[in-house]
Amino acid sequence: MSYHSKFDLRTKVVVRQSTERSEWEELVRLANAENWNETISDHEVYFNFDPKGIFVALVDGKPVGFTAAINWSDDFAVGGLSIVNKQYRGRGIGHALWEERLKHVGDRNFMIFSAPNRIEANKRLGFTAEICRFQMMSGKVNKAKYLSRTENDYNVIVPYEEGHFDGVLAYDNLIHYINPRDRFLRLWFAHKNKSRVAVAMAADQVVGYGCIYPTYEGYRIGPLYADSGDIAAGLLRELLDTIPEPQPTITMAVFSDSAGFKLAKELNLSCQTPYETAMCRREIQFRTDKIYAVFDTQLTFV
Ligand SMILES: CC(C)(COP(=O)(O)OP(=O)(O)OC[C@H]1O[C@@H](n2cnc3c(N)ncnc32)[C@H](O)[C@@H]1OP(=O)(O)O)[C@@H](O)C(=O)NCCC(=O)NCCS
Repeated sequence: MSYHSKFDLRTKVVVRQSTERSEWEELVRLANAENWNETISDHEVYFNFDPKGIFVALVDGKPVGFTAAINWSDDFAVGGLSIVNKQYRGRGIGHALWEERLKHVGDRNFMIFSAPNRIEANKRLGFTAEICRFQMMSGKVNKAKYLSRTENDYNVIVPYEEGHFDGVLAYDNLIHYINPRDRFLRLWFAHKNKSRVAVAMAADQVVGYGCIYPTYEGYRIGPLYADSGDIAAGLLRELLDTIPEPQPTITMAVFSDSAGFKLAKELNLSCQTPYETAMCRREIQFRTDKIYAVFDTQLTFV
């Protein structure tokens, strides 16, 4: 679709769905210029789930901006990855992308992530429900020091295998708000073929699970779901043990002032950016007491 407006540039802007991996490479380049710390494979999980959910703006055939919304179900969508090349900002391209995205989302309840100074503007756009605040935490971890801690030896923590899937799915079903969930979990666990998943078991029951995967710089942990802080710490140790570097940079997104926040501090992670707020058109319900780190904060959350 072509856009025409007061800006000459917009007469040359075309916004359409993006299905080309080469265009996503430009998205990742723009994102990392903003320190978003992402790889193409992070996004492929989402685009494999909803291949119609990513939009590109082209000027003279060249990609200059992106946005995305993943329709997780008939009644729920999450939006993110809004970025326009610095040279083209302030000329209506962001708005043109958001219009196309809204057509894709339709009447679904729609979640976005808001910087503190955008909350009131987002409320005026219809995102009236403030769901929760979270922090992106990151830093260098002294793995040897963390691995030497010994609590939690009464739970069994094992690397994930296919046989764990039903138990992990059942555990995950206690927590999230996206239905159905199995397709997404399978995509996440296959994440770039590089993710490592650990499962905590007690008397043959799953009592937690977590995932670590390499990203643009270092590794990201998400999700980290557990019945207790001890179990979450045990899962963290198992996950850290799978990666080669002695002092990796680790990133995880945690709820503000939560047990996950305390755990991230113990890992030596700190807040690199101000808190963000998950906002929706309508309230959603999900269980927070087992969440020590969320999946991600681009196109999904819990
Ligand atoms: C946000 C962004 C995509 C807007 O693109 P753009 O082409 O400059 O947008 P437009 O020219 O269509 O309009 C600018 C609008 O974006 C709004 N905007 C600015 N920063 C924003 C932000 N962080 N999140 C959402 N909207 C933002 C402006 O208020 C303006 O809206 P208004 O016309 O209603 O006042 C662009 O500024 C950008 O890439 N910023 C860096 C990445 C970023 O912060 N993305 C949003 C993360 S949630």
